[in-house]
Amino acid sequence: MTFTIAIDGPAAAGKGTLSRQIAEAYGFQHLDTGLTYRATAKALLDAGLPLDDEAVAEKMARDVDLAGLDRSVLARHHIGEAASKIAVMPAVRRALVEAQQAFAGREPGTVLDGRDIGTVVCPHAPVKLYVTASAQVRAKRRYEEILGQGAEADFEAIFEDVKKRDERDMGRADSPLKPAADAHLLDTSEMSIEAAFQAAKSIIDAALKKN
Ligand code: DC
Repeated sequence: MTFTIAIDGPAAAGKGTLSRQIAEAYGFQHLDTGLTYRATAKALLDAGLPLDDEAVAEKMARDVDLAGLDRSVLARHHIGEAASKIAVMPAVRRALVEAQQAFAGREPGTVLDGRDIGTVVCPHAPVKLYVTASAQVRAKRRYEEILGQGAEADFEAIFEDVKKRDERDMGRADSPLKPAADAHLLDTSEMSIEAAFQAAKSIIDAALKKN
């Protein structure tokens, strides 16, 4: 039987880094579900198709190949914005959730990260983490990441952007971002990546013992 770790949280909370570290430490397969929304959005943009036609977007979602998700291409800002728009459509979500649920069953174990993993995609996951940090801290991390890449960044614009993305992700009618009732909350505002990893590890080890 497989073992699934569900990780949710807002943009730039550190859940991607944490998910990759956990997958590596336990030898589990990892899926960043945000990339599936991004790949759908990119396919629409590339084809010059509208972002608000649900039937067309659903078809693109059904064609997404989980093996071909390229983070370096999909990370671009305008793709994230488009992804957040198509993510409000129930037919798109149904198509991508089906693919994500199939992935979750892979052996020997899986780590899925996103917005609705513990609530909708894998409601029976034995470990659910909700990774968060204040909007201010998340904006500061993103700002420093961009400066670190040698590019210019405007903190206020990034801060506004983080808050806007939160509103859209938490306010949508279908599968809004929220912690599952049985999720462990990990607030990384004042925590290093290493401390967050250690906290997650003790939760996972305890659940593995029970399994
Ligand atoms: O985590 P990210 O920035 O790559 O996600 C891009 C968008 O996709 C985000 O604004 C919301 C959406 N998303 C979602 O609705 N459900 C998920 N499980 C993952 C992402």
